[in-house]
Amino acid sequence: MIAPSILSADFARLADEAAAVSSADWLHVDVMDAHFVPNLTIGLPVVKSLRKATDLPLDCHLMIEDPDRWAIAYAEAGAYNVTVHVEAANDPVRLAKDLRAAGAKAGLSLKPGTPLEPCVDLLKHYDTLLVMSVEPGFGGQSFMAEVLDKVRAARRLVDTGHLTLVIEIDGGINADTIEQAAEAGVDCFVAGSAVYDAADPGAALERLREQATR
Ligand code: DX5
Ligand code: ZN
Repeated sequence: MIAPSILSADFARLADEAAAVSSADWLHVDVMDAHFVPNLTIGLPVVKSLRKATDLPLDCHLMIEDPDRWAIAYAEAGAYNVTVHVEAANDPVRLAKDLRAAGAKAGLSLKPGTPLEPCVDLLKHYDTLLVMSVEPGFGGQSFMAEVLDKVRAARRLVDTGHLTLVIEIDGGINADTIEQAAEAGVDCFVAGSAVYDAADPGAALERLREQATR
């Protein structure tokens, strides 16, 4: 699966930018609060409007402090998947249950330096695992290949039946990096600049899909 990130899109034309990637699997929406990460982006009103502007499932990645307070509202706003950071969540098990009760998939994200092993029990409550392959905060950064060990470990846990998860990767995914991520076992590739900096975002996403399934 490919999830273009609108962080690299034109924020004044989000409906058109979503339409430009209509063959995507999910549309990735980066919510940043200038506290958990050193950048500020968009929040609930934009997600509510996007929900009306596109049929694509919205994959909301909350890079915010206190997701326990805010995440459910994103589910209620129509997000398909709501991902919170394990480094920020106070009660991640409760949060996953509440997200599912609100009708969304529950996602857990790990920053590049956060190990997988202590999160394995938590992940039994989650539907998606978002492995960050850059420090969260900005698009257009370089891929950190060292996080692929985490992807491989998660892949093994899924393939041996210990966990049921969509394994997502986020940061620095482009034509030069997507194949190694695919080989490590990623199911869903978030790509911001590689899609939206291209002259034809729809064609760029299909080229990435082709590389990932090669
Ligand atoms: C970064 C965001 C990413 C970002 C990826 O913190 O979580 O989703 O949009 O951008 P690229 O694909 O350009 O690295
Ligand atoms: Zn993201």
